[in-house]
Amino acid sequence: VILTQDELKKIAAYKAVEFVESGMVLGLGTGSTACHAVDRIGELLRQGKLKNVIGVPTSKKTHEQALSLGIPLSDLDSHPVLDLAIDGADEVDTEMNLVKGRGGSLLREKMVEGACKKFVVIVDESKLVPYIGGSGLAMPVEVVPFCWKFTAKRLKDLFEDCGCVAKLRTCCEKINKKEQPFVTDNGNYIVDLYFKKDIGDLKIASDSILRLAGVVEHGMFLDMATTVIVAGELGVTIKNK
Ligand code: A5P
Repeated sequence: VILTQDELKKIAAYKAVEFVESGMVLGLGTGSTACHAVDRIGELLRQGKLKNVIGVPTSKKTHEQALSLGIPLSDLDSHPVLDLAIDGADEVDTEMNLVKGRGGSLLREKMVEGACKKFVVIVDESKLVPYIGGSGLAMPVEVVPFCWKFTAKRLKDLFEDCGCVAKLRTCCEKINKKEQPFVTDNGNYIVDLYFKKDIGDLKIASDSILRLAGVVEHGMFLDMATTVIVAGELGVTIKNK
């Protein structure tokens, strides 16, 4: 039997939920993979197999989902230290560095997951890359709307040697046939960066992006994941830091 990508995502998600124990405060991820994990946590709570779990959602969407499942919710102000976060990723490199944010929730994800003692990443094997940027897909940067073109140009210039292309993310809605910017949960825009070549030292890349005044956060999650669960055709592999 050949499994669909969504079935693989679900397998990784269910595996990660095996790490959840009663009484834990959990970071709840965002996206099509994390969605399966949140559903499963809701199911186990309903069945009484998990008790006294509190969730801290990483987006408005996950907040809604968790509410509808009856998962008790809190935030970082009340729970500055969390036990465990479970979330998907767009890319995972060989060192367990990640790219996240294709769903646009990178800022809240980074805040919540950065506050967790353990961060379990759940992916299907298509997300594994030899190096960050290696999928050819976007590396998102959340920017303030004010003069976003100026910020996008500065981002592009930073990575000129890597053949960087910077594009404002748009949403599906059009007004007078004109594409509209995608707006994050925090009221910001996303500039998607595409690289033709390896960007080299990720820490240096991260620091130089964050030094730009119009940048709020970027989607590289360096040295944050403590476990990566990969579901593939041949089964599940678990890598720990
Ligand atoms: C949301 O902003 C993202 O960081 C997601 O976690 C990431 O894009 C993975 O999404 P999927 O699980 O839908 O592939």
